[in-house]
Amino acid sequence: MTVAVPNQASYTRADWCMGYESLKTEHSYWIDDIDGRLPPDLVGTLFRNGPGQLDVNGCPYSHPFDGDGMVSAITFTGDRAHFQNRYVRTPEFEAEQKAGRILYRGVFGTPKPGGWLANVFDLRTKNLANTNVVYQGDKLLALWEASAPYSLSPDTLATLGEETFDGALASGQSFTAHPRRDPETGDLIAFGVKPGLSSTIYLYRVDDRGQLVEQTSHQVPGFCFLHDFVITPNYRIFFQNPVSFNALPFVFGLKSAGSCVVLDPKAKTQILLFDRQGNLHRLETDPCFIFHHVNAYEADANTLVVESICYEDYPSLESGRDFRDVNFAKVPPAFVYRFTLDLKRDRVSKKLIFERSCEFPTVHPDKVGHEHRYTYLGSIASGDRNAPLQAITKIDGVSGETESHSFAPRGFISEPLFIPRPEGRAEDDGWVVTVIFDAAHNRSDVVILDAQNIADAPVATLHLKHHIPYGLHGSFTTEVFGDRQRDSDT
Ligand code: CO
Repeated sequence: MTVAVPNQASYTRADWCMGYESLKTEHSYWIDDIDGRLPPDLVGTLFRNGPGQLDVNGCPYSHPFDGDGMVSAITFTGDRAHFQNRYVRTPEFEAEQKAGRILYRGVFGTPKPGGWLANVFDLRTKNLANTNVVYQGDKLLALWEASAPYSLSPDTLATLGEETFDGALASGQSFTAHPRRDPETGDLIAFGVKPGLSSTIYLYRVDDRGQLVEQTSHQVPGFCFLHDFVITPNYRIFFQNPVSFNALPFVFGLKSAGSCVVLDPKAKTQILLFDRQGNLHRLETDPCFIFHHVNAYEADANTLVVESICYEDYPSLESGRDFRDVNFAKVPPAFVYRFTLDLKRDRVSKKLIFERSCEFPTVHPDKVGHEHRYTYLGSIASGDRNAPLQAITKIDGVSGETESHSFAPRGFISEPLFIPRPEGRAEDDGWVVTVIFDAAHNRSDVVILDAQNIADAPVATLHLKHHIPYGLHGSFTTEVFGDRQRDSDT
């Protein structure tokens, strides 16, 4: 890469770009290169999803979100750890592999080769199944928000097919990549969006047996770009980003769908609150763009608190430009804000609580929808603008203190997950687990941090035999999954 990086940067662009190489090999092996010691009480399976392949036969996708979904599973048995990865074999993925070329337009940036004529009126996109992976009931679901989930074998990661929940979900129907698990019931609360000039929001509930037991639909005015939401015992809460979608350049093949999204700085962010009866309450706040929320809770009967990661503008990429050339100085940073929603007076107040660019927030799973003290997220290593995420940061919402574990200059983080210690009592008694790309060794590590001492040396660092391209989201289950044949497989 030829773009210069200022001297004070915590990374080099060449290092950062290495983590975007495709991983075409599917592996399955016991991890034998471990620094530190695996916690004996860390038992279960960590599933991760992300774009594993950033090109088809050398022809690159121009946005990483267009990469093909590859699910990794790291199984912790208490004394050993096993790694495996497999691609989600959607029909579109199989067709492109067979053809050896890009057949579908990417949502975010990738046009089919052939320019305007090849893309005009071609509105088909493929289900990338690349954004998240959750285990619910007996189902392992690879999620991509614009279409239906794909069901995988939790043991082998083999693709079983599109998940329609016994026909309850229409084929291709939108199902978010960010469901939230209700800690009281174990139900997965989810949604789907059909965007348009007026948009449809579907609200779903998948019970702990993996059945889609509730589905309602709601019409809301305006174009909806809803990547995430938050739940409380009584509400499902969306922040409708004040963006508009100019479909014409997309229809005419000039731009990708992702780059037709524009934030209107004069419009307000609409906060949509659905109560348990499905009634919609609306509030407004200043415009900002949100991909991810931290959490929400009910402070009292008329006051809701929502914490979110906010960009001052939509972090778009120029269509046709390689994402590896992104000028980070021009990408707006994202900070954590706490919104207090006064339902009685229809007023919203907003407070900045973490001013360092960040993404991928998480809390203790039992605190979803309830007041939390600790937030874990990925942040930049230093500075106040934007850069690749290189640190894991813990925010103490009571004291306001923050603590970070930086992997700069040559390590790049992915989403951290908090895993509670079994029988642990304190909210931060457990581990923060993440996957680091280590450019110095061109490989990825699974890193286990002590959540009460984030800045300390990791409890354990598991060196993989290869890299994993930068991932998106994942989840942990205490179930120990794996292929029974794997003992013979090193
Ligand atoms: Co996301």
